[in-house]
Amino acid sequence: MSGGDKLDFEIRPNPQPVTAAERAALMVDPGFGRVFTDHMVTARYADGKGWYEARVEARAPIPMDPASAVLHYAQEIFEGLKAYRNADGTVTMFRPEANAARFTTSATRLAMPHLPEGAFVDSLRRLISVDREWIPNDEEGSLYLRPFMFASEVFLGVRPAMEYLYVVIASPVGSYFKHGVKPVNVWVSPNYTRAAPGGTGAAKFGGNYAASLLPQQEAAANGCDQVVFLDAVEQRWIDELGGMNIFFVYDDGTLVTPPLGTILPGITREAIMRLANDDGRAVIERPVAFDEWHADADRGRIREAFACGTAAVITPIGEVRFEGGSFKMGDGTSGDVTMGIRKRLVDIQRGRSADPYGWVHKVL
Ligand code: PLP
Ligand code: COI
Repeated sequence: MSGGDKLDFEIRPNPQPVTAAERAALMVDPGFGRVFTDHMVTARYADGKGWYEARVEARAPIPMDPASAVLHYAQEIFEGLKAYRNADGTVTMFRPEANAARFTTSATRLAMPHLPEGAFVDSLRRLISVDREWIPNDEEGSLYLRPFMFASEVFLGVRPAMEYLYVVIASPVGSYFKHGVKPVNVWVSPNYTRAAPGGTGAAKFGGNYAASLLPQQEAAANGCDQVVFLDAVEQRWIDELGGMNIFFVYDDGTLVTPPLGTILPGITREAIMRLANDDGRAVIERPVAFDEWHADADRGRIREAFACGTAAVITPIGEVRFEGGSFKMGDGTSGDVTMGIRKRLVDIQRGRSADPYGWVHKVL
């Protein structure tokens, strides 16, 4: 156990890491979230004791009692961010402090203890350091970091658990969507919503994703890559996608994105707003009705739309499908404004252009 904002992570190197040849083979075409590095971070928490047994150790299964609270009431939160190998050989993360802050907000909503934000960022740095060989060095590749925390107490009563496990795993990734940076089709769910006012939509809570799987399946059955959720009250206003925020590009160049509230406050979303604003583009947070999207796309007022998030970066939306019809965004190809903003963001993330915002966090 240690006080302050840091934990003392004990480094226990994996005695049997994969060979360099095996690693190279695994990293040829990693896809998203299928390949994992040799190590993981773990730290335990107990009420009255605080955080203890913080380690970087060999990645391995986690033994769990069948009565562990998370298996019953889903008290689990997570984060997602990336580490990049830059052309000059340095290794950086994008805005890990923002993920740390959101982890705290999510923990509050799920009645969980707070991991000190300094310890969160430090845990990532340590894992990246031991697993540095796993960071891809191609244009699209990165090391996706997945910190998460769950209720590990063995107890079936419905109340906040008194014991938790914090874990970080890492996965070398390419593009989130199978076909790379090509426009995706999205399905507007007629039946299901993601988040109600007062609910858990703004937290990065595992249960939100469990609830999105059936509508996501419906999207796939309709030939779409992602589901778009409408608000839970009127089923009228665009919220966000299953795992991404959304932006609309109007014919006068204005960017419009739905306001915070029930949606996940995306770190990519916020970075895009800042960049576009500083580049002289009008950026407006306001509710957009699905009917407005459809009508404005048909009359050429909305020219482009894109999804954004850590995993998806910025992905153009090509076609919108809904019960009873479909419409295209522009001519269905990647829009210039979307791709311009994407380049602007990715160039900062990968150290190809200057970062006046202090977003890029050097690790190695
Ligand atoms: N919305 C949802 C539901 C998400 O899961 C994500 C992904 O993390 C995002 C938005 C985008 O958030 P960020 O840009 O912080 O990755
Ligand atoms: C991310 O972008 O990091 C996400 O978490 C989206 C999805 C993989 C859940």
